[in-house]
Amino acid sequence: MKEELLAKFIEVFGPGGEITSYFAPGRVNLIGEHTDYNGGHVFPCALTIGTYAIARKNSSRNLCLYSVNFDELGIITISLDDLTYAKEDDWANYPKGVVWAFAEKGMKIDSGMDILYYGNIPNSSGLSSSASIEVVTGYILDQTFGFNTSLIDIALISQYAENEFIGVNCGIMDQFAIAMGKKDHAIFLDTSNLNYEYAPIQLDGAKIVIICSNKKRGLGDSKYNERRTECETALEELKKVVSINTLGDLTEEQFEQYKDAIQDEVRRKRAKHAVYENQRTIKAVKALKENDIITFGKLMNESHVSLRDDYEVTGIELDTLVETSIAQDGVIGSRMTGAGFGGCTVSIVKEEAIDAFAKNVGEAYLRKIGYKADFYVVEIGNGPCII
Ligand code: GLA
Repeated sequence: MKEELLAKFIEVFGPGGEITSYFAPGRVNLIGEHTDYNGGHVFPCALTIGTYAIARKNSSRNLCLYSVNFDELGIITISLDDLTYAKEDDWANYPKGVVWAFAEKGMKIDSGMDILYYGNIPNSSGLSSSASIEVVTGYILDQTFGFNTSLIDIALISQYAENEFIGVNCGIMDQFAIAMGKKDHAIFLDTSNLNYEYAPIQLDGAKIVIICSNKKRGLGDSKYNERRTECETALEELKKVVSINTLGDLTEEQFEQYKDAIQDEVRRKRAKHAVYENQRTIKAVKALKENDIITFGKLMNESHVSLRDDYEVTGIELDTLVETSIAQDGVIGSRMTGAGFGGCTVSIVKEEAIDAFAKNVGEAYLRKIGYKADFYVVEIGNGPCII
């Protein structure tokens, strides 16, 4: 991979200079969905698929960015003296946003760069291809200009770029999971204070299987911001009757006690999901630590139901995948993962059952939805690195 990309880099940008190759992973969230902007817990892990980037300084004040995935767009040239969002810069707004965010935080770069990107995360899959581009870019800036930024700060600056430059009001989960990834471990992260703990993922002869629904996420981002606003409004209503900072501060019992303060039925369902999902995540990690993957799987299934009925971010494609997955032999748990509205599901499946699982779920999906789903048996990988 690296040799091929280096050859492509030289074909696109020409030889010379000090060229360095980098990688940052994608991520999958095992449980704890739509909790990260509600002060709750998440439990994601980094993958071994992700974004490769080859980079060197150039002698101009331009960032010359090229993606093998969008080669029809050619080199996108961005002036360091005009770091504003531009629709025509397309995917390159992600790295541009990170360079902008570094500058905002006092880390201005004083030289242009040539950077070639290649990602093997399926597009629009909800496995965080954009956060992966952001984090690899932050890592490149840190390594090239010696900023000495911690990995957590790279995650926070990348999230800042996504919020303030791209305009998606995402939480910290994706960037944190990618920047702090650790092979064979998931990250139990408390998003209210960024305390975290690595939990080894030993699945007892089972594997993590991701199914990409191939449903593109069109309106996803605007709905995402809408969910966030609904939760914020519900929190304000609850604060009138109970002293809390986030929805993550409530137990299920407290929520039931105070929920009538939320004036609207839809908002009450959204807040219920946030509270219950946070508690489910805490319980799931406890179960995993006790080697009880059956309970972990059951909590994954419950997470999906809550995302379907209370948070309403699933849709027929993800529901079909999860319902048919759960009905297969050897499936320990299954749920949608990421923002929803399309994208992927994550399932834990006994190794010997994976072939039949892929066949049966694949056929059922094609029959009902009319197009194919893609299956990936994934491994948990490390965070960003030089390769
Ligand atoms: C997206 C966001 C994350 C998180 C998930 C839902 O992936 O980027 O911050 O909110 O959706 O859990």
